[in-house]
Amino acid sequence: MEKKKAKEDGCVVFCGGKGCRKAGSDKVRAALEKLAEKEKVRLTVAETEECMGKCSQGPVAVVWPAGKCCVELSKKDAADLLELAADKKGE
Ligand code: FES
Repeated sequence: MEKKKAKEDGCVVFCGGKGCRKAGSDKVRAALEKLAEKEKVRLTVAETEECMGKCSQGPVAVVWPAGKCCVELSKKDAADLLELAADKKGE
């Protein structure tokens, strides 16, 4: 079933608002996608069209299955984001 598949894969949803883009969300996203590919981790990476309301703390992303909101991200946080998204505790 699709619902289970999404849970197993993990998902990181980046804020696509202007503030987070200006703060470098694209670079964090690129670093995460590159690391997931390198580590062979199945991961869904997406982006909202609108601001998540935490502009002063950007870049912002929400990581599933934990549903955790991560703020002030940088490229060096890619490994932590990947680990959090691959966490199976939410199952
Ligand atoms: S632009 Fe990302 S939280 Fe506002």
